[in-house]
Amino acid sequence: MTTTSHRSSALDAAVPPPPWPGPPLPPAIAPAAVPPSELARRSPITHVRYVALATEDLAGTVAFYQGIWGLYPIGSDGDVVFLGAVGSPEPFVVRVRAATERRTDLIAFGARDRAAVDELAAVLASDGVRIAAEPGTLAVPGGGYGFRFFDLDGRLVEVSADVAGKPFREIEPGESVPRKLSHIVVNSPDAPALVAFYERYFGLRLSDWLEDRMAFMRCSADHHSLAIAAAPHAGLNHVSFELRDIDEYMRGTGRMVRQGHAPLWGPGRHSSGDNVYSYFAGPDNFVVEYTTALERIPDEDAWVPRVWPATPEYADRWGTGGPGEDLFALWHRTPPESGLWLPAPV
Ligand SMILES: [Fe+2]
Repeated sequence: MTTTSHRSSALDAAVPPPPWPGPPLPPAIAPAAVPPSELARRSPITHVRYVALATEDLAGTVAFYQGIWGLYPIGSDGDVVFLGAVGSPEPFVVRVRAATERRTDLIAFGARDRAAVDELAAVLASDGVRIAAEPGTLAVPGGGYGFRFFDLDGRLVEVSADVAGKPFREIEPGESVPRKLSHIVVNSPDAPALVAFYERYFGLRLSDWLEDRMAFMRCSADHHSLAIAAAPHAGLNHVSFELRDIDEYMRGTGRMVRQGHAPLWGPGRHSSGDNVYSYFAGPDNFVVEYTTALERIPDEDAWVPRVWPATPEYADRWGTGGPGEDLFALWHRTPPESGLWLPAPV
């Protein structure tokens, strides 16, 4: 004779855990007229190279980037100092020039090769874009072959190829210094027009919009290398430096906090790009960011660009970053860019 359990079948049932529906996704943007893979194929641009800043306080600015920020000087030429990232073969990622006023001298991108430089310069010139320096040999660390032009806002942009890399090494565990320049964000009084400009001439692909406030554009598998923020005046919004992982990013953020540089916003994690962020006031109130874990887009045409809401829940998935009021207040009081439509002295 056997006995049978009469326990409720509800208790015996192997109840599967409920599936997770995933986070709510905001609306997708209609596919671009030109497939992203085609834009990528045509694009002369490979990566973002550096930002050049001018300052009244050369020594103090270099001390900041060389010291707490974690770059190192790789050379100087008179009143100009070049700073590189330990983990990057890029000869330098920040150039600082002594000047009588704060300004952004230029932003710089890498191109595929000399032919791409020449072709881009010719196309821009034939379309009436003002060329500031014709293609030629560059007299900077790493050399190379490049040219300069003014974009729609009058921002000076350099594009170069054949640049010789500098020595670089693996970052040590806990060293917590930037591995490379991650992205540059610019302010524009006509963001949609500037997005179209960089799509057309640079072959950049739109990755996402943050409402109508910021467009994120890519030139590689990184979700964004250039972002364009809608603003009353053209200028530099911020420059972002990539740390290796979230631990090192947190250690770097903590180093800043301990030395009296509390983040203006962060640590937090964005929705668009999925990167973590800590924004700080750098020298001359230029905003600099530590970031890591930026989303990768390995398949150009599989990516669906979206319009992300600028609500706190989306702006900071972690909910740890605070309101960011200090950052917005700093941007609000930053004077309009004074270097527009001016070729840099060097
Ligand atoms: Fe950023």
